[in-house]
Amino acid sequence: MMGIWTAFKTLAAALLLVAMILKPVVEAQLQYGYYETLGCRGVENLVRTSVGLSFLTDPTASAAMLRLAFHDCQVGPGGCDGSIMVEGNGREMDAGGNFGVKRLDIINSVKADLERMCPMTVSCADIIAMVGRDAVAFSGGPEIQIPLGRKDADFSSASEADAKLPPSTSSVDTILSVFAPFGMSLAESVASLGAHTLGGGHCKNIQDRLRFNSPTAPTSLLYRTQLRAACVVNVFDIAILNNDASQFTFDNQYFKDIQNGRGLFTVDNLLSTDPRTAPIVSLYATNEAALFAAFQSAYVTLTSRAMTGTQGSVRSTCHL
Ligand code: HEM
Repeated sequence: MMGIWTAFKTLAAALLLVAMILKPVVEAQLQYGYYETLGCRGVENLVRTSVGLSFLTDPTASAAMLRLAFHDCQVGPGGCDGSIMVEGNGREMDAGGNFGVKRLDIINSVKADLERMCPMTVSCADIIAMVGRDAVAFSGGPEIQIPLGRKDADFSSASEADAKLPPSTSSVDTILSVFAPFGMSLAESVASLGAHTLGGGHCKNIQDRLRFNSPTAPTSLLYRTQLRAACVVNVFDIAILNNDASQFTFDNQYFKDIQNGRGLFTVDNLLSTDPRTAPIVSLYATNEAALFAAFQSAYVTLTSRAMTGTQGSVRSTCHL
């Protein structure tokens, strides 16, 4: 009897030891200053410097990088997991929702610099999240600190991207259902759409609004006419229409515009009229500091769904 009891105690002690060893792995989380703890210093400075140079030569790059961060975090087995840059048949980048995603070369160039500095250490997922964050700051938006330590996925699916990337015609309910799994408040969800202060979109994403008698047509007659004129001569869908009147500056112009019936997409238009979101749109249109504060926390939340610790890996290149 004593023998069984001793064996039981030995087994329990062994299990406890295994649990103690595994605990840091199981509970690994994103951390501020993560790469310093791995002995790799200056990662965020290097990212900011190389990104800054890209933005100087291409003013549209910051919008592209911010959208890339959202699309990477929205789709993939690990959330923000670099899956948007995984190659192969039926990859995420083949999805219709990723139409117009560009400047992935910036991520590859930052990755190459970081590989020289600290080989196989900094994930593509972290680079995408940092570059999106720096795009906001370089465009005049808030400085955002984000925890790091995301791991990369090696799998990417166009069908998953098609299912998860919301179309330009999304309702407010759809938008809220996109942001709810991240754990975002209503104010943060509305602030996230404030990313549409940068960049622009293609005519094919506003066709629904240009039809005669469309219920979602822009309420500003002048704006409707401008959009029609820009899209009527659009050959090969190359025309890009500005998301707001100051498309290179991260500011609260987007919220002023959508209040005045000058939202580019149906989704932008609905945000300013839905009774749940309209009061928050008014707040951000008049109080840029409130928008910046909400966008800061929204971006941290948006980029926090990730694989960490022993989940995933660090890829040697990001690809595409
Ligand atoms: C959840 C609802 C959202 C919908 C339905 C939506 C939809 C769209 C569409 C249709 C485009 C234009 C694509 C094109 O025609 O080229 C676009 C552009 C853009 N989106 Fe969103 N978006 C959403 C949320 C977000 C979020 C959360 C962010 C970032 C935090 C974001 C950042 C951007 C940026 C910066 C652009 C401009 C890209 C460029 O000019 O290269 N969007 N979005």
